[in-house]
Formats: sequence, C-alpha cells, structure tokens
Amino acid sequence: MPHKIAVVVGSIRKDSINRKLARAIIKLLPDSFACELVQIDDLPVFNQDHDQDPPAPVKRVKAQIAAADGLLFVTPEHNRSLPTALKNVLDWVSRPYGQNLWAGKPGAILGASVGSVGSAVAQAHLRSVLSYLDVRTLGQPEVYIYFTSNLIDDQGNISNDGTRTFLAGFCKQYAAWIEKRG
Ligand code: FNR
Repeated sequence: MPHKIAVVVGSIRKDSINRKLARAIIKLLPDSFACELVQIDDLPVFNQDHDQDPPAPVKRVKAQIAAADGLLFVTPEHNRSLPTALKNVLDWVSRPYGQNLWAGKPGAILGASVGSVGSAVAQAHLRSVLSYLDVRTLGQPEVYIYFTSNLIDDQGNISNDGTRTFLAGFCKQYAAWIEKRG
C-alpha cells in the first residue's frame, strides 16, 4: 500500500514559489508515496459557530486529512509568521474540541521565501502550533529555501544541483520518518 501524504501549501497565490517547492518534493519522493495537494483557497475564515457542522469545503479537507498517513507543510512567511490561509486550515481541522484530526500524524515542515531568511520564522511558529496539535514533526534536516528566480519551475524541476541534492536528502529522511510512523 502506498503512503498517502497530504501536502498543505501555505500560499494560495497562483505563482506560489512554495507550491513549486512542494511539487519538487513530490517528484523526489519514492513512488511508494502518493502525495495529494490539499486545496485550501475555498475555505471560509474559521468560525467556531460552524465547527460542529462546517461548510462543504471544510468537510472535504477534513476527510482528506483523516485519510492521510502523513503530512507535509510547505509554507511562506507572512510578516514573520505563518500565513492566515495556513492557520485557517489548521484551526478548522482541529475542531470541534476533542476531534482534532491532525493528532498523531507524522509530518514535516519546509518553506521558501524571496528573502534569505527562507521562511525560518514562519516555520518555527508553525512547528509550535503543530506540536500543540499533536503532529509529530521531523526535526532535521530543516529546509529554508532562499528562492532566486527560476530555481524551481512549475513542474517541480530544480535548476540548481546543490539544491536538488539537499532536497533529495530531505526526502530520504522524510520517507524514513513516515515509513517508521505512518
Ligand atoms: C511577505 N514576504 C515575506 N518574506 C519573508 O521572508 N519574511 C516575511 O516576513 C515576509 N512577509 C510577507 C508578508 C506578506 C503579506 C507578503 C505578501 C509577503 C515575501 C514572501 O517571501 C514572498 O511573497 C513569497 O513569494 C511568498 O511565497 P509564495 O506565496 O510565493 O509561496
């Protein structure tokens, strides 16, 4: 059976560099990993009034996360933290109280930014939230990608040999992490 991986990209913009990074990782993972991007751009803003019977897009995402053996979070940094769209899906899937569907899943965090900080601060904040939500995140290698133009194309092809080797190393560690826990 393949390992089902839910890939959550923290950006909803069309030309997201983090979606390109996610596609590169999906390409580098072994065939035994069935990765699916999680659509988050149609989720309403979280409202606790609806957490017992949420809108249809939320139900769809919750079913996708429930069925996943593992998680991959690929996030930009917005004003030195995780983007609103990412926090929104984390909140919806954590509710209602006592039915947090993230709990116990193995996962990993990576990200890219157009600055040399490589989304490190956002990733630290995200790791803290995921720890509370009981997601077991891979500690190392950390992946902070300083995204220069054309580093990764829309299909996930990486133009820089060093980056490709580094990300392949990440994928090896991630695959072992999921195989042990997924
Ligand atoms: C940014 N960006 C940014 N970059 C960074 O390294 N640290 C930061 O705190 C921020 N803050 C920030 C806030 C907002 C509102 C925007 C729109 C952007 C720049 C960011 O790295 C850049 O837009 C990336 O392209 C975002 O990733 P996606 O959306 O392309 O995946």
